[in-house]
Amino acid sequence: MLVFSSVDALKGLLEKKRPASLGFVPTMGALHEGHLKLVDTAKEQNDLVIVSIFVNPAQFNNKNDLLRYPRNLEKDLEMLKERGCDIVFAPTEEEIYPPEYKEPDLQLGVLEDVMEGQFRPGHFKGVVMVVKRLFEIISPDKAYFGQKDFQQVAVVRQLNAVYELVPEIIACPTVREDSGLAMSSRNELLSEDEKRQAAIIFKTLVALRSRAATQIDPQSLKEWAVKNIEENSTLKPEYVEIVKESTLEPLSKFNGSPAVACIAAWAGKVRLIDNLPIFP
Ligand code: PAJ
Repeated sequence: MLVFSSVDALKGLLEKKRPASLGFVPTMGALHEGHLKLVDTAKEQNDLVIVSIFVNPAQFNNKNDLLRYPRNLEKDLEMLKERGCDIVFAPTEEEIYPPEYKEPDLQLGVLEDVMEGQFRPGHFKGVVMVVKRLFEIISPDKAYFGQKDFQQVAVVRQLNAVYELVPEIIACPTVREDSGLAMSSRNELLSEDEKRQAAIIFKTLVALRSRAATQIDPQSLKEWAVKNIEENSTLKPEYVEIVKESTLEPLSKFNGSPAVACIAAWAGKVRLIDNLPIFP
């Protein structure tokens, strides 16, 4: 496994040895089975796989979140080597954002106004900034993202639709703990008790899905979900939203089109998100 921190060195190698199909998995490190499943899928579908590890300051709207974000490059490299990753790109901030790099002027529309867009102002601008730069450096044939960050997938698809950087964006299913809790680098920051309590998020999503089959009103479903989390755990819900799968517009009534239920909640100082498709 080769490890690069320099953009020029990586580009140089890719120009010399361009594989028939190049798969790319962008990450912020502190890797877990969710990330590694993306690597497995990329390996199955490509001749060469690159994983990037870069904790992108531009996408953190909360300074403490950035400071506390778990970092463990040595362990990450070991896990990637074991999984058969070919190349790791772990650049510095200077490499990713040279003075001449211009922030893309991409209008995200509704994606910027709802859920993560609403509660983490500027977050998706930061995601767009780094993903566009990484796509331009690596020029993969396929790029892999997790459905766990459902809204991020929509943002990346929109970015890619405008700039046409990658032929295929592939969204992979959410990997979960036995409790149902979606795997996340931030789970490392939870106490044992918080981790147990956090399983309420997925339980609530599953219950929402079955309730959606009989209840026609998304608003009362959302209110039920907030109450369920507040009454049965120590978590503090930030939002519960039910959106149209294709556009992410909040639904005021079910109209037969596929919908996704999304939750953000605080477990102590840690903010967690999850989602589940529901088909009423
Ligand atoms: P990060 O949170 O490290 O996640 C990297 C990729 O792994 C994302 O596509 C994310 O959706 C996916 N992922 C995380 N947890 C997962 C799980 N439990 N199951 C399946 N996939 C999972 O998302 C980012 O980094 C950044 O925003 C990034 C795209 C790298 C840009 O900085």
